[in-house]
Amino acid sequence: MKEIIAEIRQRTLEQLKTVTDSRSLDELRVKVLGKKGELTGMLRSMGQVAAEMRPQIGQWVNEARESIEQAISESQKSISELELERRLESEKLDVTLPVKDRSEGSLHPMSLVLEKLFDIFTGMGFEAVEGPEVELDHYNFELMNIPKNHPARDAQDTFYVDDNIVLRTHTSPVQARIMTTRKPPIRIVSFGRVYRADEADATHSPVFHQLEGLVIDENITMADLKGTLDTFATRLYGEGVTTRFRPSFFPFTEPSAEVDLTCAACRGKGCRVCKGTGWIEVLGAGMVNPHVLEMCGIDNKKYQGFAFGMGVERLTNLKYNVPDMRYLYENDIRFLKQFRG
Ligand code: DAH
Repeated sequence: MKEIIAEIRQRTLEQLKTVTDSRSLDELRVKVLGKKGELTGMLRSMGQVAAEMRPQIGQWVNEARESIEQAISESQKSISELELERRLESEKLDVTLPVKDRSEGSLHPMSLVLEKLFDIFTGMGFEAVEGPEVELDHYNFELMNIPKNHPARDAQDTFYVDDNIVLRTHTSPVQARIMTTRKPPIRIVSFGRVYRADEADATHSPVFHQLEGLVIDENITMADLKGTLDTFATRLYGEGVTTRFRPSFFPFTEPSAEVDLTCAACRGKGCRVCKGTGWIEVLGAGMVNPHVLEMCGIDNKKYQGFAFGMGVERLTNLKYNVPDMRYLYENDIRFLKQFRG
């Protein structure tokens, strides 16, 4: 009996050395110490042994059990450590691996220019306001000194909703909405969509965007207009870009001017973009027509004002050297990607 018990103990301890995972360890434990295990079997076969031998055998079995249990718990400890190490190894992340390219979005070039315009004009003390795109004829035309049958109406290929309602053909009606509801001093800019029944081509679109400006106060002169637009030109396109005023006509301003900017592509030297002239026409402006002030309820003896309106697509394309307005609307990802960052 003693030898058998010793043999079981010896063999189990030997086997324990080769066990490297907790499952095999558990199997070995059950095989030897479990209810039907080898060592437990020794106790069960005690019936066949002489009664006086039983306590002795019980002691041998217990001693063997204890030493096996101790060895098992030790190897349990080292196996757990080993298994933890293995798991950590298998879950290891290499943080130095190169990252997959994530395609990031970017702001549309018009948005970039708009943000800049907003900064420029609010920086000069202008307040940004909005007006409706579906507009009353009254604001879009009448109060802008363009009565029915005025030839200027034809020039603005209007989309009519009904006899009195139009899709606004310019942002100038916002001027009328502000002048009829506020008292001077007024200093506002307004940005938004405008509509004209034009075919889309490199320089036209039935929907485009304008930025409108209006200042009304005492002692406002054309010099204030010139100073404001020069500052705008330099801030948007950089040093060396200024304005040139040419006499023109708009029903809502008197006098009126077409305003050119130094060609940003050649800085005035003359190139393909400006057709060799060094100048690019970008906006309309003038002193608010006293009749417009009067129609909008502003004392035109006491107050004067200037106004300007410009196409934002054109400003954008000049800034980024984009040759065709349609690029701005087609949203070709290859085009938009160039404006990242
Ligand atoms: N409303 C004009 C247009 O759409 C642009 C314009 C010209 C606006 C002169 C103005 C201005 O405020 O003073 O063509």
